Amino acid sequence: MMISAPGKLILFGEHAVVFGEPAVALAVDLRMRCEAFRSPTYRVNGQALSPDRHAYIFSAISRYWKGEPLTVNTVSEIPSGSGLGSSAAVTVSVLGGLMSLSTGMDEPLLAERAFQVESEVQGRASPIDTSVSTHGNGVYLDTERGDDHLWSISMDTRRWHIHHLEVPELSLVVGYTGIHAPTGPLVSSVKRLVSTDPKARRWVEEIGEISREGARALRRNDQEGLGELMDRNHRLLASLGVSSPQLDALVEAVRPYSRGAKLTGAGGGGSMVALTDRVRETSVAIRKNGGRPIAVHTGVPGVRVE
Ligand code: MEV
Repeated sequence: MMISAPGKLILFGEHAVVFGEPAVALAVDLRMRCEAFRSPTYRVNGQALSPDRHAYIFSAISRYWKGEPLTVNTVSEIPSGSGLGSSAAVTVSVLGGLMSLSTGMDEPLLAERAFQVESEVQGRASPIDTSVSTHGNGVYLDTERGDDHLWSISMDTRRWHIHHLEVPELSLVVGYTGIHAPTGPLVSSVKRLVSTDPKARRWVEEIGEISREGARALRRNDQEGLGELMDRNHRLLASLGVSSPQLDALVEAVRPYSRGAKLTGAGGGGSMVALTDRVRETSVAIRKNGGRPIAVHTGVPGVRVE
């Protein structure tokens, strides 16, 4: 049984989404592949299953698998800690494998379970990464329910509605800093800032407005508009303290060749993304400034049996 799930790019709204603001995420053509089969003991990639080394897989199995022991092997095209959704993709593909071995794949239930696992391992989170990896293509997440609704997910007093977003052909280049920055502490640092500084609360709301405008710009394929919104979103994320000198340098370096650029995901390290028709020049600028360029394609399917 081989299951795959895509990595993701957050185009608008990371961090603000944790506070109930909308966000836009796109699935990208970097996939996590996972095989799962029954075996005498629990094994992951040749090692005994461990809650420390395999936190997401351990949580997924402990919560949602009642059968005999399994061997799980994963192969990833998504650099770990890159902000491109490798932990969501491993969670979604493993849960997809468990479901296929028992009741069969059910996407809304899978998205809900994947969010539970990610929250347990990572702490405070939103369901955006796990939902886009499940659904593929594009998702728009909001606290209000609108057209193209896919499913809704709740946690404590928060409730999110996840919607399908049709993604036009976009030419995107990721710049990976090579710095692994765990999401949990970055989310906590934004929470601290927002609870002590009223300006930060307004920045979060402004990011929410950018996500609403960004979803509209995507629907009408307004690439100029998307680029401007990405630049504004990056400045607000930097104000919230989640950019880094490396990310700012990459965003600056690609500016002459792109319509817009911003950090993507939790920040602190990880990656930035540029919307550009000049893929070669943008990639060279990223490399010259110490990043690893990765040209990505959108419009890809979500979790699936291979
Ligand atoms: C991480 O990819 C996105 C964050 O908004 C956290 C989350 O939504 O769970 C930073």
